[in-house]
Amino acid sequence: MKEIRDKARESMKGFCRVCPICDGRVCAGEVPGMGGLGTGAAFKDNIAALADLKFNMRLIHDVTEPDTTVRLLDQDFSLPVLAAPIGGVSFNMGGKVSEEDYTLSVIEGCAASGTLGCTGDGVPDFIYEAGFAAIAKCGGRGIPFIKPWEDRELYDKLEKAEKTGARIVGMDIDAAGLVTLRKMGRPVTPKPVEELKKIIESTSLKFILKGVMTPGQTRLAVEAGADAIVVSNHGGRVLDHAPGAARVLPSLVDAGDGCLTILVDGGVRCGADVLKLIALGADAVMIGRPVSVAAMGGLKTGVQTYLETIRTELVQAMVMTGTGDIKTVSSDILYAG
Ligand SMILES: Cc1cc2nc3c(=O)[nH]c(=O)nc-3n(C[C@H](O)[C@H](O)[C@H](O)COP(=O)(O)O)c2cc1C
Repeated sequence: MKEIRDKARESMKGFCRVCPICDGRVCAGEVPGMGGLGTGAAFKDNIAALADLKFNMRLIHDVTEPDTTVRLLDQDFSLPVLAAPIGGVSFNMGGKVSEEDYTLSVIEGCAASGTLGCTGDGVPDFIYEAGFAAIAKCGGRGIPFIKPWEDRELYDKLEKAEKTGARIVGMDIDAAGLVTLRKMGRPVTPKPVEELKKIIESTSLKFILKGVMTPGQTRLAVEAGADAIVVSNHGGRVLDHAPGAARVLPSLVDAGDGCLTILVDGGVRCGADVLKLIALGADAVMIGRPVSVAAMGGLKTGVQTYLETIRTELVQAMVMTGTGDIKTVSSDILYAG
């Protein structure tokens, strides 16, 4: 990973410093770029919320080879980690790698590691086009995310998403807070629940709603017919001072009441973070910036190497907490104080 990170530091110069710990401190306010919005408080709180959680260490048991596999939305995953949708390589990462090469690396690297990568959307159109092309090239093994555009544009993109061969589609409803879209003259707005219902009914694909942060909004996501939500503050890029995702996750899991799959992202930096979020009730997690760094520094191999590092760390944390199976993680592996 060191070589990959060194290469990324070079190719992302001026856009991401590839810090020893990616925590949003030095890049606060760098949107466009890789930072969090404004003071960077929401990005930083994703990290702080995870750091607040500690494990109970347990070694008197027979777990040596824990099972990290999960089945989500009718698909099998070798580990409960997906690459979060990230787009805009030119204005967020410096553009030394093309949007096409970057996106294909994420999709192929994830597929090679037995999981799925997501693709982003934005202005200009080649962001989503690169994502859709990469997923189609990889036989539908990826999840296209679309912004909550108005009317025809949204339905057209949903139709195109189906043609990629993907079996799942997502929408980041929190994109209404994106300064990048506003700056490019194409802001998007929130969607009332009736409209969301129509959108979800219009596609035959499983539907993930990303950017849900309260129990009430979780119940509305269920009402609208979403198959899954991503508990996410968009990596702290849409609302300064939103809480870290790990803080709100347990109340959203309760509100979901088993009616939908719960994914979560924000600040996941190691295998232990993955286990913490699953212990809080998530079915799987997404990782954003560190996957971008791995792709910018080593393309497909970089992504695969990074995911294998996460897998090794996750297995280690499972052994050390006496967790035999990721599907039955108990919240009592977390230290209650
Ligand atoms: C540069 C950048 C671009 C992003 N683009 C998108 C996007 O197109 N669609 C989307 O749903 N989320 C997007 N996100 C948010 C990520 O999917 C994810 O929620 C966030 O990065 C998770 O936090 P982490 O980076 O701390 O892991 C973007 C994030 C970054 C940093």
